[in-house]
Amino acid sequence: MTPSSVEKSVAVLISGRGNNLGALIAAQDSSYKIILVISNVEGAAGLDKAGSANIPTLVIPHNGKTREAFDAEMDAALRAAGAQIVVLAGFMRILSDGFVRGWEGKLINIHPSLLPAYRGTRVHERVIEAKEALSGASVHFVVPELDAGPVIAQASVPVHASDTPQALADRVLEVELKLYPEALKLLATDKVKLQNGLAVFS
Ligand code: GRF
Repeated sequence: MTPSSVEKSVAVLISGRGNNLGALIAAQDSSYKIILVISNVEGAAGLDKAGSANIPTLVIPHNGKTREAFDAEMDAALRAAGAQIVVLAGFMRILSDGFVRGWEGKLINIHPSLLPAYRGTRVHERVIEAKEALSGASVHFVVPELDAGPVIAQASVPVHASDTPQALADRVLEVELKLYPEALKLLATDKVKLQNGLAVFS
């Protein structure tokens, strides 16, 4: 067996409803298996999605902890579970530089814009205000600077003049659910790597 054909153990970090998590669960194949879902929010709906798929879950609340202490707790849980790749799927905490460096090249996120445009929050409001014709979603390697890591894959959607932020968010989410599993499979099969600050494809 070549190294690229070995199933990778994936952990998913969530804070909320877990639509992307659901798509990642459904798309599991010989390239990756989700072995753990961690939420920083107790009762996050995504935890039920993991539970229904018999995936172990862990709640690690962030309240009352320093960012570093919280991240160290997550890091320990991820290493103990044997995670090889960590996927952020609606995880609403900024990660410390130390955590991000420790998972360099193995940590990915999905952001609901065509990065590098519209990093940060209130993405859909800002896209509509700017009267953009196109928006979309980007899967990227996570680096210490927020939403600034090299892009692995993107998908675009039209922005309509009548769009509310929610309508646009829903349209973007539809493409996220297809894009994220495909991007994860590229990483899990070593077809994309983070090298010298770039997403390098082979
Ligand atoms: C998605 O829009 C994703 O782009 C952003 O957070 C949202 C998560 O949604 N990072 P869900 O929890 O996967 O439903």
